[in-house]
Amino acid sequence: MRGKFITFEGIDGAGKSSHVNWLADTLRQRGLTVQVTREPGGTPLGEKLRELLLNEPMHLETETLLMFAARREHIARVIEPALARGEWVVCDRFSDATWAYQGGGRGLDKTKFLTLEHWVLDHLQPDLTLLFDLPLAVARERIALANRSLDRFEQERADFHERVRQAYLDRAQHFAQRMRVINASRSLPEIQKTLEEIIKTI
Ligand code: TYD
Repeated sequence: MRGKFITFEGIDGAGKSSHVNWLADTLRQRGLTVQVTREPGGTPLGEKLRELLLNEPMHLETETLLMFAARREHIARVIEPALARGEWVVCDRFSDATWAYQGGGRGLDKTKFLTLEHWVLDHLQPDLTLLFDLPLAVARERIALANRSLDRFEQERADFHERVRQAYLDRAQHFAQRMRVINASRSLPEIQKTLEEIIKTI
């Protein structure tokens, strides 16, 4: 039987990464084989592209094409083979991030996004997308507390991140079947309880 594909999304500072490994461990306790991966990245070439994407200034369309190039590699070499073997794939960000960041945040033309998505994803869509949502001010505070250097996206102004957040929320409304909005301003145990309830349903 084909495995399930679960993606995590949210603005920077939403804290989704701490839940990725927790969810994978919870699924493993159920006896499932789980691959944890991320975008941009997830393959040796994808990780090199990530380095560029996070640090090197570039044209919006170059950025979008590189995101999708890394994604093509990731789908072909990691995601599809794992799903075909019956494994579950838990991925920190996927195509919804391009919709939200390059589309909502930077204003990429929607038809260009749809063309690339159709080409690169073919018919692959996540079975479940967990959208970690919280007010921008709380997210910013978390990033500041982490006290590390910021990448190109994290350095963007507040209005950019507000547009990213709104694009995610609009998309979650549009794809209500697969996307679940998680209130990420709550404590870790409260969020884990919600996640447990959601994964029971898939
Ligand atoms: P992120 O996954 O948040 O990594 P970390 O937790 O290490 O900060 O960072 C990846 C960044 O890439 C994030 O700011 C969003 C951005 N991004 C896009 O702009 N478009 C995309 O399609 C993807 C996958 C990520």
